[in-house]
Amino acid sequence: MSRSLSRPEGFQLSPAPEIVVNLYNKKNTFAARVVDKYRISHASSPNHCWHVILDITDSEMAGKYRIGQSLGVFPDGRFNNHEFNYVHQSLTNQVRLYSIASAYWGDDWHGNTVSLCVKRELGEDAETGKLVMGSTSNFICDVQPGDLINVTGPVGKSFLLPENPLDYHYVLVATGTGIAPYRGMIIELFNQGFEGEIWLIFGVPYSTDIMYDDAFTYFAEKYPNFHYHTAISRENRNAKGERFYVQDALEENQEKLVPLLEKPNCLMYLCGLKGMEYGVYPWLYRIKSNLVSLPEDMTFDQVDKLPRDAREWIRIERSRDKTRLLKETY
Ligand code: A2P
Repeated sequence: MSRSLSRPEGFQLSPAPEIVVNLYNKKNTFAARVVDKYRISHASSPNHCWHVILDITDSEMAGKYRIGQSLGVFPDGRFNNHEFNYVHQSLTNQVRLYSIASAYWGDDWHGNTVSLCVKRELGEDAETGKLVMGSTSNFICDVQPGDLINVTGPVGKSFLLPENPLDYHYVLVATGTGIAPYRGMIIELFNQGFEGEIWLIFGVPYSTDIMYDDAFTYFAEKYPNFHYHTAISRENRNAKGERFYVQDALEENQEKLVPLLEKPNCLMYLCGLKGMEYGVYPWLYRIKSNLVSLPEDMTFDQVDKLPRDAREWIRIERSRDKTRLLKETY
């Protein structure tokens, strides 16, 4: 495992590539061959999450993508049919985006692979009680080494590491598969000689759902400036006796986090479940951070109690300092 995490002795890293997007698109896809895949949620977890490594040697993308970008994948395989798409007909034959989980040099150190982190979408339709399966996520999780996957991209320019990434500190907050980009970011930073502080706060329902735990534990043991914390929502409770979320882990560590976030060279990233920002922004208000601003006509208590669908969130969102608080929720 540590083979893909720590640079082989004497190995010289290539510099980060320029940002490019859409080297491949719907009309011009690249057929990437699956090199390997391994399960990253615990075998006993009902959430089935896989790390899938794709060979892109013969593509324009080799050595050209950046961590924080995504790849598009077309639905394919045995679940890409009317029966399983009936809930989301509009998504039939639409590309689905998956965050890249590998450093820009891939898991092979030469930029000839790109890795994805994918969770099987499995559920029931609330009205009919019928099985619903994500056609693309299940297609990807079913692949075997040697299979081909048609990909597009890379896409995305707004969730990248900054130029001169070693000059910053990072507070990385993830829920679920929102962890994908942080794996690559952490591998990149430490292999480039990073000496600042990184805090990783990772929220999952149960401890068996923690993805890449062995990798993050490896870095936490090796680097005292890497602080790895999990928020296991359904196993732990916050002070109010409610589910323990990432914002509760932020609060628990705020003595260290507040002075760090006050530094102009500290960046905060949020990635994962749509809605996680509604828990994190009130915490940012509480610590008087200037990463988001409270609307002048609202008190903190009003913001804390705002329902998820309140129009005020649009205004609050507009006030986000997009240069220091980067967000990708879906
Ligand atoms: P829960 O579902 O227990 O309420 P996954 O995507 O694998 O389901 O994980 C997402 C994690 O994020 C879960 O632990 C989930 O908790 C948690 N979560 C759900 N809503 C929020 C929220 N508004 N803020 C932060 N975390 C959340």
